Amino acid sequence: MLIKHRLRAIQHDTNVCADIEGFDFDNHDARDIAKLREYWLQYGVIRFKRTRITDEQQVRFSRHFGDFVIHPKQLQEGGHPTHPEILVISNAMKDGKPSGALGNSEATWHTDTWFYERPPAGAILRAIKVPLVGGDTYFLSTYLAYDTLPEALRKAVEGRQIFFQNVYDKTGKLRLGKTTPASDDFREWSGIVHPLARRHGETGRKALYLGGTQEGAWIVGMPLGESNALLAELWDHTTKSDQIFIQKWDEGDIMMWDNRCTMHRRDSFDPNTIRIMHRTTTSGERPV
Ligand SMILES: [Fe+2]
Repeated sequence: MLIKHRLRAIQHDTNVCADIEGFDFDNHDARDIAKLREYWLQYGVIRFKRTRITDEQQVRFSRHFGDFVIHPKQLQEGGHPTHPEILVISNAMKDGKPSGALGNSEATWHTDTWFYERPPAGAILRAIKVPLVGGDTYFLSTYLAYDTLPEALRKAVEGRQIFFQNVYDKTGKLRLGKTTPASDDFREWSGIVHPLARRHGETGRKALYLGGTQEGAWIVGMPLGESNALLAELWDHTTKSDQIFIQKWDEGDIMMWDNRCTMHRRDSFDPNTIRIMHRTTTSGERPV
């Protein structure tokens, strides 16, 4: 008889992440998946150390957690040759062109694709090739950011909406399908509005929603200077958390985060080293 490992989660010192032990990517059932889902919702980030799975297995595994979301970069340099569900994040060059999305420079704090009407719920990121040093990924909880807001800030956030322009990316490049706006005021550009504090569709908990950048973000209806000052305070409060999990990658590691209640960032790394990651992304609800 096949003896199955007992699936369990080992919490880290920070309460943002837990390691999953005893999960078999080749042999699991609906109960195992339900348990994983529970851990994922509980911790916000779960980690599988040094897996040895194929792209195909990653796609099959990810499918348990919802429909796939295609990142705009998947339609450009970040596409995978045989699995359209996978975003290839790579700094390697092929024939003088990038062979994946993103370079080696630092990726600042963000939630994934905050500029969508329905940002994804889940991201499953698997290390294919990683440099020995650099490129660490940091995670924080935006539940915690909300829960620890000083009273005055919590009041200031209550019932507020945040506008994000979605014309330019963080590097100043036009996003796919966007054209240079006529106005100098980003508040008149194409963009998306989300609640500044959103209620998680599954846990019902409230989380602060800051998107991915202070630039090009505006708290709707507030004078711009006031909005900038409040956002600076909220960013400061959120990113200076003492509960930050730092992932130092080994090949095969998988980080799976809940994009509705976490933010992440990545250190830069030596451009002469190669870092390749395969990400699958699952769909989420419209923030409310
Ligand atoms: Fe990201």
